[in-house]
Amino acid sequence: MKRLQDRVAIVTGGGAGIGQACCEVLAEEGAKIVVTDINDQTGQAVADAINASGGQAIYAHCDVGIEDDIAKMTQAALDAFGTIDILINNAGIELFKNALDTTTPEWERCINVDLRGVWLCSKYALPTMLAKGKGAIVNISSVHAVQTIQNITAYAAAKGGVVAMTRNMALDYAPAVRINAIMPGFIETSLWQRFVALSDNPQKVVDDTNALQPMKRMGTGRDVALGAMFLSSDEAAWITGTTLAVDGGLTARLHN
Ligand SMILES: NC(=O)c1ccc[n+]([C@@H]2O[C@H](COP(=O)([O-])OP(=O)(O)OC[C@H]3O[C@@H](n4cnc5c(N)ncnc54)[C@H](O)[C@@H]3O)[C@@H](O)[C@H]2O)c1
Repeated sequence: MKRLQDRVAIVTGGGAGIGQACCEVLAEEGAKIVVTDINDQTGQAVADAINASGGQAIYAHCDVGIEDDIAKMTQAALDAFGTIDILINNAGIELFKNALDTTTPEWERCINVDLRGVWLCSKYALPTMLAKGKGAIVNISSVHAVQTIQNITAYAAAKGGVVAMTRNMALDYAPAVRINAIMPGFIETSLWQRFVALSDNPQKVVDDTNALQPMKRMGTGRDVALGAMFLSSDEAAWITGTTLAVDGGLTARLHN
């Protein structure tokens, strides 16, 4: 028996990177997947690939910064599969700026997607989970919730907020719904590539980051997705309100 057989899972930002890996890994474990994204082409392609390999998936457009999109996406999940068992709040955007350089619209967009979106997607999925007395939510935060680099103020604030909100909501909705977070370290996705491209010396950023890794490699989307799958499964039945670092040991290190 697969770990998530016939569970219905929504994955936000499922069209690429960590979100795509979450869609694939949860589908491998038998879940029916609602792939959501703002990029309809990549999101639909992820759903199509799951269906082509014998799984079940639909694509539903959803900008997690827009409440009306979240309402429609949640209804699309219920129309297609009749319930919601798992929500992976993965969609997120970066903002590599310090406090002085950040404009008010940039701050609002980052917090709106990375923090408010996690709350709102949860708010729309929770009633279905509470009515059936069971559900699991996994919020993708970041190591920037606890340790950080310069020039990433709004993103760090949002990701710290996700960890605090996870803890708080876990108390409010236990024992029916378990709510946990994951702090990924450096993961090789398009977000990471955009970060590297900001540098005058991209190769040095890659080399320096590789040198930081206790596990001697950067992470993959699948590394994070396997953590999300575990936290979504009944094997994590007594785990709620916690944050799992999936960072190759990065936050364990005090000094080289
Ligand atoms: N890559 C890393 O090193 C890393 C590290 C820690 C945390 N994270 C977090 O993991 C999550 C996924 O990151 P990634 O590296 O896979 O990013 P990515 O940019 O490679 O992929 C993000 C996906 O989310 C979608 N998306 C963007 N804005 C959206 C919105 N408003 N609504 C819905 N979908 C939206 C994109 O279209 C894309 O498909 C993010 O929350 C990110 O902050 C990433």
